[in-house]
This record gives sequence, C-alpha cells and structure tokens, in this order.
Amino acid sequence: MSTHLADTCLAPSAPPESFARGLIEGLGQTPKEIPCKYFYDQEGSALFDAICALPEYYQTRTEVALLRRHAGEIATAIGPDAEIVEFGAGALRKVRILLDALDAPRGYTPIDISGAYLREVVRLLAADYPALAMHPLAADFTLPLQLPPLSGATHRAGFFPGSTIGNFRPNAAMAMLRRMREMLNGGGLLVGVDLVKDPQILHAAYNDAAGVTAAFNKNLLARANRELGAGFDLDAFAHYAPYNPQSQRVEMYLVSQKRQSVTVGGQCISFAAGEAVHTEDSHKYTIESFREMTARAGFLPRAVWTDADRLFAIHWLESR
Ligand SMILES: C[S@@+](CC[C@H](N)C(=O)[O-])C[C@H]1O[C@@H](n2cnc3c(N)ncnc32)[C@H](O)[C@@H]1O
Repeated sequence: MSTHLADTCLAPSAPPESFARGLIEGLGQTPKEIPCKYFYDQEGSALFDAICALPEYYQTRTEVALLRRHAGEIATAIGPDAEIVEFGAGALRKVRILLDALDAPRGYTPIDISGAYLREVVRLLAADYPALAMHPLAADFTLPLQLPPLSGATHRAGFFPGSTIGNFRPNAAMAMLRRMREMLNGGGLLVGVDLVKDPQILHAAYNDAAGVTAAFNKNLLARANRELGAGFDLDAFAHYAPYNPQSQRVEMYLVSQKRQSVTVGGQCISFAAGEAVHTEDSHKYTIESFREMTARAGFLPRAVWTDADRLFAIHWLESR
C-alpha cells in the first residue's frame, strides 16, 4: 500500500524574517518578551522531546498513560472514518495510540510551526502507517489556516495534547479554542491539560536537574545566533521559571546576568543587569475551570479522564 503524503505542505511557513521581526519587536517592549512559539526550530523541538523524557516532567508520561488506558473510550467518542487534525503535533508519538485504537482512521493532518522537524517525524510515522493519508502542515496555528479538504473521511476530530493550550493566556486560549471549533466544522476536540497542583511538583518540572529546560529556554538566543547572526552569550543569561500560585501558571524568563548590549538583526538591544525577558507562560487549570472555559468557547464538554494523583486531564469536547 502506498503512503499518501502531501509533501507540498511541508515548506516551513515561519521563515527567518518572521522570527527576526517577532524577536526584535518583543525585545523592544518594556518589559521584554519573546513569543514562546519561537522556541521551536529543529533544535528546539528536539530539546522539547528531551524534556518529555525527564524524570521531573510528569506531563508526558501521565498523558500517554491516560491515552493508553482510555484509548477504547476515546476511539468510540471520535467514531469511525475520522480524520485527525493535530495542533502543535511535535514528535507525533501520542497520535499513534489514537491511530491504533480508532476504527478505520481515514487521514491525519499534523500541524506544527517547526517545519524541518515536522518533515522528519512525518517520514517516521508514514513508514509505520503506510495506508494513512497524511496532510502535514508546517504552519502557525495562531494565524488563519486553511485545512485541506476532507478526502475519504466522514468528519474531523481535533487532537491538542501536551497542554500546549496552557501556553495561551486564558482569553487567548478561549479565542484559540473557538477558532479550532470553526476549523473542525462540527468535529470534536481531544485536549490534554496540565492540572493545578502542589507548586513544588510544578517547580521541579520546569527546573530539571539536568538543565534541559534551561537549554530549551536559551535556545531562543541560540536560534537568534544561528539564524540571524545575533551575538548572544548564552552564559550571560540565566533560566528562571517560578510557579506563580495566584495566576496558576509557571512563568519562564531569561535573566540578563550583567549589563550588556547585543546586536540582533542589525539592531543594538540593551539589557540591564538582572533584567528579565519573559519567554513563556504555562497556565494550569482545574478540571472545572477548563470545562467552563471550553463551554464559553462554544464546545460541549463531555468525558474527562484523569490519573489517580490528579496531575493531568484529557478532555473530550463536542462541537455544539
Ligand atoms: C508543548 S509542545 C507539545 C508537543 C506535542 N503535542 C506533545 O504533546 O508532546 C508544543 C508544540 O506545538 C508547536 N507549536 C507551538 N506554537 C505553535 C504555533 N503557533 N503554531 C503551530 N505549532 C506550534 C511546537 O512546535 C511544539 O511541537
């Protein structure tokens, strides 16, 4: 059987100009901020994959265990002959659990901003699922997006694992969920969400002993050096990722260790000693607060699966 792979959609859609613009704009603000979507070039995606295997990073193994345990119920909820659209698809590992459980999945559309990495992992998945029609999209899902027409499938189901929804501020998360509902055109959405929990567990997860999360955070600077010829000294910035229990989010920063100026895309950017660049938020939800938000976004929250320690939840949302 042949693999139906739409290679033409794999050209990276976030060209260096967009990264340069976003970076210079963000570093020109007070306080300084770099949008977290720029973490993900090929190196950043590989670093995220390494984070997923860390002992402190309970999210991935907990979500994978939930998917495995409830695969049958999830497959029933999604129904036969579906096309799976995965938002922020990453390493494409979790979707294998769905594909193996689903009744006659007809297609798979992984969407990710990290174009070169997506190309690599799509080839691996295609080798293992040669009959599956794949339509990978190297795209920024926060921008208007045209999904390829349904071919052979009766409906779409969205898959949004990894608690990527937590990287949006609550209002933006609701807007994103609304847009996804429109794109899915009546299909449901399966979304993985990290739960509010003991701050110590959260702190450890984002401040791992091996320093992989720090390297992931600093990849923003390394990427600027690689792609834009910027002059960042990575040792002159520190990774700082505290949990803010009032906002219920982990906040990630790069903190300048000294007064310094760095040339980025031909512009000179100054940093005061101790000045912080905000690089990511990771919002945590309770099961109830997330269900409320999805209902306000126009979904009907249905089943929720969670682990005994209430670390993580997977929500099945139907379109109204
Ligand atoms: C937290 S990781 C989750 C990866 C994977 N879904 C998982 O569960 O392990 C976020 C993923 O979303 C992608 N991503 C982040 N922002 C994006 C955007 N604006 N548009 C498309 N993909 C994005 C990243 O490249 C990365 O693969």
